[in-house]
Amino acid sequence: MSTSQSEVRKMGAGSRFNQWINDRFPLQKLMREHATEYYASKNLNFWYGFGVLSMFVLVIMIVSGIFLTMNYKPSADEAFASVEYIMRDVEWGWLIRYIHSTGASAFFVVVYLHMFRALMYGSYKKPRELVWIIGMLIYLALMAEAFFGYMLPWGQMSYWGAQVIISLFGTLPVIGDPLVEWIRGDFYISDITLNRFFALHVIAMPLVLIFLVAAHIMALHEVGSNNPDGIEIKENKDASGKPVDGVAFHPYHTSKDLVYIIIFLILFSAVVFFAPTFYGFFLETANFEPANPLVTPEAIHPVWYFTTFYAILRAVPDQLGGVILMGAAVFALFLLPWLDRCRVKSVRYRGWQFKVALALFVVSFVLLGWLGLMPASGIYLTLTRIFTIIYFAFFIFMPIYTAMEKPKPVPDRVVYEHG
Ligand code: HEM
Repeated sequence: MSTSQSEVRKMGAGSRFNQWINDRFPLQKLMREHATEYYASKNLNFWYGFGVLSMFVLVIMIVSGIFLTMNYKPSADEAFASVEYIMRDVEWGWLIRYIHSTGASAFFVVVYLHMFRALMYGSYKKPRELVWIIGMLIYLALMAEAFFGYMLPWGQMSYWGAQVIISLFGTLPVIGDPLVEWIRGDFYISDITLNRFFALHVIAMPLVLIFLVAAHIMALHEVGSNNPDGIEIKENKDASGKPVDGVAFHPYHTSKDLVYIIIFLILFSAVVFFAPTFYGFFLETANFEPANPLVTPEAIHPVWYFTTFYAILRAVPDQLGGVILMGAAVFALFLLPWLDRCRVKSVRYRGWQFKVALALFVVSFVLLGWLGLMPASGIYLTLTRIFTIIYFAFFIFMPIYTAMEKPKPVPDRVVYEHG
């Protein structure tokens, strides 16, 4: 029997197997709709890599999380020691833990860059409002997931961070106290609280995240991806009905995404192997001490990815006022599709008003993140208040300054730079 004949026979069996599957499950149809015949603009740049990277980090988190759960003990008596056991005694335990802890910060890095891309290119605008709204729900779910996870090592910051955040609910009138008790499941943060946070962290929130990410992609593929020029490529199709400015997602974009994943892995490994605590930013120093309800750490602040909102919370002397303002800071992002009145999407063609506003917004977001790590007094407090005002001005005045913009003419076809 010649090789070529056996190859033919193999191929025959392969396609027969494919046929058998496709008669029973729409595998080929799904692949076509979402990969080989999903057309995305050919000028997508590296900013479009952060969506795939977010998915990649989600997978890393789930896989490393499963292995951590095999040795972690969700009890107030054993949690801290079980994490030390993972670090010292479990084979490769240190690596799994550092992958998971670094992954948490990496998740927020890629998601923040992904969101910034949407701001730059107007990806939240019609017809992608729902893609944006679902993205915002993912962001909320991610914050909850990170918060529950940070409690699990039962270190000083786990305990006191949870104490601060949970007590914020107590500022709500009438329902505040019973609500706090309901969240804790006890009169103070205890073993019971740790147990329920464990359940939420390892099963409830991951399910929510996976469901939301699936909905995010489905909504995106319904309307099609935006691009750095903010042009709707579906409006310009060739005779066969394919967008002239589009290329198939697979293999043309997947091959580029693979490069982004490799670059990401190099940077990620550098942190995991050489700076896993990232100078106290990814794993805070105080969290290497077991939780002690009788001793408050010197300074309590959340991990870096929450500090912008934490700064806004502390900008107001009144606690309830701070909580409302912090909630408004997140909620405002949901409203973007309706606050922005400019008909042009991409920053490339927008007027100076939006460019200046976006730059100020980013500066205030980053500086508030830094200020959230500083004491809430003196010059730090003054700066916090100034940047909180700038943060909100971005949203409050958006309907006005975006209506005043005189955008440049948008080209008919996407701009594709070779090289
Ligand atoms: C786990 C978190 C997330 C995952 C896995 C994810 C995944 C993706 C992927 C794969 C894409 C297509 C590729 C790309 O355009 O980059 C995308 C697009 C998009 N995402 Fe996300 N995303 C996440 C979070 C978010 C968040 C938090 C927001 C905003 C609040 C958001 C808003 C958008 C928007 C507006 C688009 C369309 C972009 C365009 O076509 O220009 N996503 N997302």
